[in-house]
Amino acid sequence: MNMAKGDHYEVKDMSLAAQGKNNLELAELNMGALMEVKKRFKKEKPLKGVRIGMALHVTKETGILVRTLLAGGADVYITGCNPLSTQDDVAAALAKEGVKVWGYKGENNEDYYRYIKYVIEAKPHITIDDGCDLVSEIHKNHPKLIKGIICGCEETTTGIIRLQAMAKAKALKYPMIAVNDNKTKHLVDNFYGTGQSSIDGILRATNLLYAGKTFVVCGYGSCGKGLADRARGLGANVVVTEVDNFCALQAHYDGFRVMKLADAVKIGDIFCTVTGNKHVIRVEHMKKMKNGAILSNSGHFDIELELSRLNKVADSKRRVRPFMDEYVLKGKKIFVLGEGRLVNLSAAEGHPSEVMSTSFCGQALACEYGVKNKGKMPVGVVQLPGEIDDTIAGLQLKAMGIEIDEMTAEQKRYMDTWEEGT
Ligand code: NAI
Repeated sequence: MNMAKGDHYEVKDMSLAAQGKNNLELAELNMGALMEVKKRFKKEKPLKGVRIGMALHVTKETGILVRTLLAGGADVYITGCNPLSTQDDVAAALAKEGVKVWGYKGENNEDYYRYIKYVIEAKPHITIDDGCDLVSEIHKNHPKLIKGIICGCEETTTGIIRLQAMAKAKALKYPMIAVNDNKTKHLVDNFYGTGQSSIDGILRATNLLYAGKTFVVCGYGSCGKGLADRARGLGANVVVTEVDNFCALQAHYDGFRVMKLADAVKIGDIFCTVTGNKHVIRVEHMKKMKNGAILSNSGHFDIELELSRLNKVADSKRRVRPFMDEYVLKGKKIFVLGEGRLVNLSAAEGHPSEVMSTSFCGQALACEYGVKNKGKMPVGVVQLPGEIDDTIAGLQLKAMGIEIDEMTAEQKRYMDTWEEGT
């Protein structure tokens, strides 16, 4: 592919920059909380002289995060964290603004890792990751850089799981802030964001009617709960599959049918995995599905559907429309969306800007926290203090013009005492 290249960028097509600029403007309008952080950063410059290397989905919302970090005085280097999630217009607009950016939608593996290498070569003091590929590359192939790194920030559940595995194996060598674990991130992003945007991705790819369909959600964690809830809202009959007793129990009491995947495959019309696990829907399941079944994934990596095997055993495969591949398997058609990559980002635009506003307040404030606590954080997975979460929730409420009550002095005293009873 012919890429547009400059000394600080490699993107698909610079002529898309005008559309990207419009999209960035629209995102700003819906990211009031992050814009407040940007305003303060511009005044206080808490990131002055700090080099930040990022592997995040290159979307309009990430563009606003980049601008916020730049306003705070940082020097920012960015590439994508998934081969199908880069918004080419936004990448072009950022490159035009002078941002150091490398990425395009549909990257091959070689380019994906070449771009990560460019970010690493900038010798970042802080890494921001969505899925842990950047941190993993630094630890595996550039360990000498680690002594200059203050901390990293991780955006998603899968990344946290990988980091915890690294920490357990004593392989993790610098502090990693679990931005994903902020209450504001988990609730707004994983639940509301993934819930809505995964549905959006499936709709844009297929234009199917949800009402009356049997929609199978594999994994009833934060994302799965949002997805099941939204699918029900559109009139689908939702079935949940789980491997965890408690999550399965909650799905049941939330009013969903819970069953084994082996049973769900016989009745499902649309499937979406959100487990963070591997080979959840396998060829053995696909063979039992109805003719025309739709398969998608919204978990971080493209391994939740066993596509590696499907590609070998299917009778045929062809692209029937963008982000929709038809496989013929034992005479039946099944359709896979977005090549099994997170459907909300591959077939749609990811989370709405308002959602990413709270997630990225978490990233921006985590960078500031990291700089303030340089050398004081333990090597391992670190949680941000609850006050930062509370600040983010407050900023988001303010951005929406919502006011809440304050406890009276009497109420505060009462909450702090134990003597007063019946
Ligand atoms: P979570 O840990 O809260 O939930 C995952 C659930 O999947 C758990 O309840 C677990 O018991 C279940 N599970 C594991 N293996 C299973 C199997 N074989 N069959 C059925 N259920 C199984 O994780 P969360 O926060 O919901 O994230 C899920 C995935 O989504 C992760 O990969 C995360 O990185 C990704 N994610 C994707 C986003 C997107 O924009 N598409 C946004 C946020 C997270």
